Amino acid sequence: MLHVKAGEFMLAEGPLRVKLLEGEASICGARCREGYEFLLVAEKAVTVEALTDLRLEVHGGLEAKLEKSEKTVPEEWLSVVEELAKGRGTVMLVGHVDSGKTFMATYIANKLVDEGFKVAVVDSDVGQSSIGPPATIGMAVMEKPEPFLNELKMEAGYFVGSTTPTGHLLPMVVGVRKLVDRARQVADCIVIDTTGMVFGGPARALKLYKAEVVRPDIAVLLERRGELSHLAKQLEALGIEVRRIPASRWVKPRGRGERRALRERAFQVHFKRRKPREVELDLTSTPLIGTYLGSGVQPSGLREEVKALLGVEVLYCESLPEGIVAIIEEKVAPRQVEVLRRRFGETIKLLRKGFEKGLLVGLLDSEGLLLDVGVVKRLELEKSRATVTTPLEDLGYVRAVKLGSIRLNEEYEEVESLRPGFL
Ligand SMILES: Nc1ncnc2c1ncn2[C@@H]1O[C@H](COP(=O)(O)OP(=O)(O)O)[C@@H](O)[C@H]1O
Ligand SMILES: [Mg+2]
Repeated sequence: MLHVKAGEFMLAEGPLRVKLLEGEASICGARCREGYEFLLVAEKAVTVEALTDLRLEVHGGLEAKLEKSEKTVPEEWLSVVEELAKGRGTVMLVGHVDSGKTFMATYIANKLVDEGFKVAVVDSDVGQSSIGPPATIGMAVMEKPEPFLNELKMEAGYFVGSTTPTGHLLPMVVGVRKLVDRARQVADCIVIDTTGMVFGGPARALKLYKAEVVRPDIAVLLERRGELSHLAKQLEALGIEVRRIPASRWVKPRGRGERRALRERAFQVHFKRRKPREVELDLTSTPLIGTYLGSGVQPSGLREEVKALLGVEVLYCESLPEGIVAIIEEKVAPRQVEVLRRRFGETIKLLRKGFEKGLLVGLLDSEGLLLDVGVVKRLELEKSRATVTTPLEDLGYVRAVKLGSIRLNEEYEEVESLRPGFL
């Protein structure tokens, strides 16, 4: 049992379970009352501000911490909230990994909810997702104060299919815009969270074009040592208001391994808790998209010709305007691929039997939005059939199947990341 005096701040680091026995607290900007209970996993931290005297029940693991701290929300954050409240606007947060983006996004959203606004959060972090599973962009409406974004229900989603934006910049930008459009129909204020990818050409491009396509009223850049000045300059030149704010000093740093563990847990929670089932999809009525597979034609004799040229068993073959797709039994030498190139064209997609097992897929509706994700068991292209494990109950709205570029094993752990464009 722990007593905290009104006005004090406590920094909590997981693994920890805290129950508010008495009093009122603000957690990540969300007012929480008597009876509220939360669980923090090892990689997460949060501050509890005592709005009144508090009595807490605390159960912690070995590395847990719960200690008195200073206020971890700088004054500048409030002026961002005020500005948004005035204009019912959109804010986009940008910063390197562990700069406190998600914490700040949660805080801003809660403060706006507290002021009576309808707030939507668009989570475009496909690696450390809070809304929807990893590899997707998710939008949720915050109806009441909520200290943890992952408790929100995804209202709309967009399937990117990768847990990093590298090589997937187009779906990232398109997805954010589609979900922001949707959010603007239902909410007064929109908070956009982003991935920590800010260095290098693709990262710079992603942040610039994402901002350009959604035109936030404020872009918050969370910086350690001025590393986002390039973006600040460009966004200001485009007429977007920029607030450069120091990155959070209260982050519990997470290594690559910890981020991976968090991601895997997120996949497991998404799939296992929702009792996925195996379903068959007819690829004639719900075609594959975002892949060469299934996009060509199957002229008679093609399979035999490819088989003769390669000297290995060919299980399936289709002709594309720019080459061919073939599923083969065993590996072939690069010089044999050259032979096919000369005969059919530049694009030769040779896939080994079983390549599809474990691929993450998005089941999409008629607007191209995500109904739910699934994992491929079997693709039988010659029969236009896909067998997928998914928690989606009603398949009636599925219009397309989008192939992702990561592979999960039976435990929903990410075991492989395919080269962008490979399929
Ligand atoms: N100002 C802060 N006060 C308390 N905890 C914070 C603060 N900033 C970040 N954290 C905690 O540190 C961890 C990492 O921060 P997060 O916001 O997820 O970073 P990012 O989204 O930039 O990767 C989270 O558990 C978060 O709650
Ligand atoms: Mg984050």
